[in-house]
Formats: sequence, C-alpha cells, structure tokens
Amino acid sequence: MNVNGQPYRSIVRDGHSLLVIDQTVLPHTFRQLRLHSAEQVADAIRRMVVRGAPLIGVTAAYGLALALREDASDAGLQAASDALLATRPTAVNLRWALQQIQQHVAALPARERAAAALARADALAEEDVRSNAAIGEHGARLLRYRWELLGKPPVLNVLTHCNAGWLGCVDWGTALAALYQAHRQGLPLHVWIDETRPRNQGSSLTTWELQSHGIAATLITDNAGGYLMRQGQVDACIVGADRVTASGDVCNKVGTYLKALAAADNGIPFYVALPTSTIDWQIRDGQQHIEVEDRSGEEVTHIWGRDDDGQLRRVQLAPDGTRARNPAFDITPARLVTALVTEHGVVAAHEAGLATLRRPAQ
Ligand code: MRU
Repeated sequence: MNVNGQPYRSIVRDGHSLLVIDQTVLPHTFRQLRLHSAEQVADAIRRMVVRGAPLIGVTAAYGLALALREDASDAGLQAASDALLATRPTAVNLRWALQQIQQHVAALPARERAAAALARADALAEEDVRSNAAIGEHGARLLRYRWELLGKPPVLNVLTHCNAGWLGCVDWGTALAALYQAHRQGLPLHVWIDETRPRNQGSSLTTWELQSHGIAATLITDNAGGYLMRQGQVDACIVGADRVTASGDVCNKVGTYLKALAAADNGIPFYVALPTSTIDWQIRDGQQHIEVEDRSGEEVTHIWGRDDDGQLRRVQLAPDGTRARNPAFDITPARLVTALVTEHGVVAAHEAGLATLRRPAQ
C-alpha cells in the first residue's frame, strides 16, 4: 500500500537481508529496519517490530532461509525452526510457514537448501499478497450486500478491532483489505476503531493506515463498542484472526470476544477475515487447545506515547507494585461468528463450512 505516495510492503527481501517497517514506533515515526540473520528475525517478531499473524509467518519463513545460510544441516534446520517457533505462541501462521519451508527443503542436499528456502519464502510472501487481495474482494462484496440490505444508508458504519491491515500482512491486510476494496469501489464507509489496549494496535496502526488511505474513521475506547451497537451506530463488525479452528472458533486479539457477544446481542453481523494459512486443522475447541500468549503485566500498568516535545515516552498508569495479567488474545466461539471471509470465498463458521475450503498442507 502507499505511504506518502510511495508503494510499500511491510516486508521486502533485498538480497540476503530483509527490510521491515518498525511497527513499535508508528504512528510517530515511519522507519524501516534491515534484518540480516535468523536471530535478528526472531528478535523482531518477539519485540513486535513485525506483528500480525500473516506477517510473522512470512517473516519467520525468511528467517529460516537466512539460518540455512549459516547451517543447512538437518540439525541446523530443526534448531532454527524451533527458535523461530518459540518467538510467539498463538498465531498458527508462524508454524504453518516454518513447515512450508521445512517440507520444501527436507529432501534437498544441504548445499541447495538456503537458496531453495529463500525462493519458497518469496513465494509465500507473494501468496500472502494474492490471498489478501482476494479476501478484500470477497469482504467488500459482503459489506456491499449488508449496505444494500440496510437500504443503502448514507454511510455504512463498520467496527474493527486491533490491526488486521497491510501492516499485519505483507500487503493489503485481511479485515482492512475488505474496507480498502469497498472504499475503492465507492461504498460510503465509516470505521469505528477500537484502541485495542494494552498495545494499542488500533490507535497507533489502524488509525494510521485508514488515515493514509482516506477512509473516514473514529477511534473509540475498547469498551465503547457495546454502547455504540445499542445506539444503532454499528452496522457490521469485521476483524482478523490469529488462529481459526476446524470448527470455526476464532482466536484474535483480546477483546474480540466481547465485541462478538455485543454484536450477537444487537443482531449485528460479525465477520472474520483470514487467509486459510490461519486455520489450524488439528484442533476444534479453541478455548481448550489454543495457547494464548501471556504478555508482560507492564503493558497493562504502563503505556507508551509521544509527549508534546515529540519524544516517545513510557508512562506509568497503576500504583507501584500493581499485579497485572495480560492475555494477548481471546477465543470467540464459532456460534458468534456470522461468516469467515477467506481467499477462497465466504464460508460459515462451522465444521461443514470450513470443510469446503481447500485444505493447505500442514
Ligand atoms: O499481537 P498482534 O498485534 O500480532 O495481534 C494481531 C492480531 O490480533 C490481528 O488481528 C491478527 O493477527 C490478524 S492480522 C492481519
């Protein structure tokens, strides 16, 4: 997508290094960082310099390819893959992408592995862009359908949570791809953006993305969505996903479940956009079987922001010694999900609906 009129992707390979956008300093500073090794890639994923399920998958795939340049033995492949997998536990795209590379190089002699892995990682990056563009088309159709069903109001109010935009993917995004396509097609949109505490991907990243692309949006506190829904000011919700089970349970940024509950109570459709690489075919019950990342309590007791002098600062919100719990994701049961929007089309969030999708190699 464009930043100040220039086309960017969230990750670009440049020879044997990677250029990524540093998402820890947006929206205040736009800067790219260069990653040269698997260790730097792991560190970037862990610190959330890169984030979002599809993007961490592609970044890890490149990381494994870089590791194979140092040690292409079977043991080296396994060790690098384990180290990258350990960076973040919840988004299944990470495991999926590492498996794609491992399967691709397993039968090759060691001397051919690094180049083959790099080529496969390039292909995964391109596939991600194609998938997200297709998700955008399907999602935009769904939003237009909703707008028509409501009698073509002057504006369709859509609520989104976290950042499921191009920053979380290689390009386009998942939930935001639907909004980008709908906007391009002339659908009159207004987006409610949940701030998404504690890391504020809504306030810092989704606002920045939508502003850059001229889509009308309003930032709200995480708890305002239910009120706005009851006021009739939300026509649809659309979010991304970090893992979707074979029966349609959706794991996404913490707070998603509460929005889905409020949407169901108010008869508002709740759409989830995802590439099929986000489906974990091995599990059904998301609440029981998905490992939800427990992050530092300091993200709850403190907050980052820019002061009036333009300096990035960390500010304490809670008293010294406050104990805080910080689960980074939650699981929305399939029964609260109106539809899943994938690159292959829109399906119902249940076992039979998901079964209609081509099953990717896992
Ligand atoms: O912790 P994050 O910022 O990596 O979490 C991101 C999300 O929860 C997104 O909604 C999800 O990955 C979809 S990204 C296109």
